[in-house]
Amino acid sequence: MAKVRTSYVCRDCGNVQPKWMGKCPDCGAWDALDKFVDRSGAESAPPGALDLGASASAESAGAPGASGPRRAVALAEVKALDVPRLATGIAEFDRVLGGGVVPGSVALLGGDPGIGKSTLLLQAAAALADAGRRVLYATSEESAAQVRMRADRLEGAADGARAANLLVLAEPNIAVIAEECRRIRPALLVLDSIQLCYRGDVDAAPGSVAQLRRCCLDLVSLAKSSGCAVAMVGHVTKEGDLAGPKLLEHLVDVVLAFEGDRHHAYRVVRAVKNRFGSTQEVGLFEMTGGGLSEVEEATLSVDGGAPRPGSAFVPVLAGSRVLVAEVQSLTATGFLGNAKRRASGLDASRLAMLIAVLEKHGGLRLADQDVYASAIGGMRIVDPAADLAVALAVAGGFLGRGLGASTVAIGEVSLSGDIRVARQAELRVQAAVRRGARRLIVPQAQRGVVERAIAGGAGGAGGAGGAGSGAGPAAEVISVGSVGQALEWLQGMAAPGRRGESRQSAKM
Ligand code: TYD
Ligand code: MG
Repeated sequence: MAKVRTSYVCRDCGNVQPKWMGKCPDCGAWDALDKFVDRSGAESAPPGALDLGASASAESAGAPGASGPRRAVALAEVKALDVPRLATGIAEFDRVLGGGVVPGSVALLGGDPGIGKSTLLLQAAAALADAGRRVLYATSEESAAQVRMRADRLEGAADGARAANLLVLAEPNIAVIAEECRRIRPALLVLDSIQLCYRGDVDAAPGSVAQLRRCCLDLVSLAKSSGCAVAMVGHVTKEGDLAGPKLLEHLVDVVLAFEGDRHHAYRVVRAVKNRFGSTQEVGLFEMTGGGLSEVEEATLSVDGGAPRPGSAFVPVLAGSRVLVAEVQSLTATGFLGNAKRRASGLDASRLAMLIAVLEKHGGLRLADQDVYASAIGGMRIVDPAADLAVALAVAGGFLGRGLGASTVAIGEVSLSGDIRVARQAELRVQAAVRRGARRLIVPQAQRGVVERAIAGGAGGAGGAGGAGSGAGPAAEVISVGSVGQALEWLQGMAAPGRRGESRQSAKM
């Protein structure tokens, strides 16, 4: 017998309470509990259990991996599924997905309003349609005409294949969307956005926990039973988390976050969760008049111009590749005991730690200085190997010393003031040299590794640089063991007044 059970779900943390309370006992949010009525007894079974049962009986012999074995079997006996991925052809997007969309998977794309979520998914849909795959773009936020207007701005607007294969449905009712999906049988269903979708039989407003949960479960079972991949847009809260509690993230296979400042050039797509690939990869995009365009990583290169105090370059790891990022810092006189520390694109507590290390182990007096530090271009740097670059940018800004042209710094700074080794130094060094680095500041312990990497990389790349003298490496290596040593080296650099004479004069 179906049983009606009422519970209360917190809008913020997603925890379930048996009765209504003014304050969520788990996360402390006030007035955040929503009533959730569970009508079917079967709902308490694990999601998708019924569908799996039905499909398992139909094709039990076919794919034991897909429908899940009913009895425990040795893992070695389970046949691995070899499903071809649907590559969208947008290389940066495919990279984040781990090579393309997996049929039957559900992906959730979150991000700030106006960052380009709808644009990215429409572009991916259009690219798949161009390749002859059928795509259904269901929108609950916009009208079909609005989608058409956006599509017209994109490159290669509706010609033959795209016109025939890209279908639009402006509909917030999930039952209608699922019905159309069964009729059309697309390879990909795009849903923009899940927050405005609803199910008629759930007594709650769209976007509420009850609606989100049911709509998402419907989509998951639709994807699993029909093999159609689903990509949906999810809104984020002020703090940047996906709106609606964590429950959406648990239900789907892939969670992508679209990051970056909408006023900055670069937008980054990052995988937060990916059941089919790595979460290390990022996709780099730039918003242009014709939609999102992929950013060539080679355009991010080390500045070879005059040294600027307060700026440092660092090769940061982003999955299987290395991006060269610029860190800038500014110090200004503030109030002792109330100095500001502001970070943009960097971890604020990491910045505070580095300032403390510079004070304690580098002898800099920053207590009455406001310190601002930022990663350029809207990038977010989380790599600890960027510590040394941040520290040198702050110190350089304060002391009025630039690092010199074409210089990158790699290394993690520890609380004791030591420079620790960086992960995958060879990869970073080779990428940095390829993008124009001619001087590398590296941890002492990695000097040998770095020199070998440069020699190997220069040999392979034909030594295009030519900055080094015949036998030596194409780039100068400066190894530092501590923050104190790094600052000593920095003090010896040219002061900004003598900008004209660039790297020759700076080189000792
Ligand atoms: P949109 O994809 O609608 O963002 P979201 O769905 O994440 O809210 O569009 C983001 C912004 O990008 C919008 O303000 C307009 C701008 N834009 C361009 O600059 N060029 C374009 O070609 C398109 C389609 C949008
Ligand atoms: Mg949108």
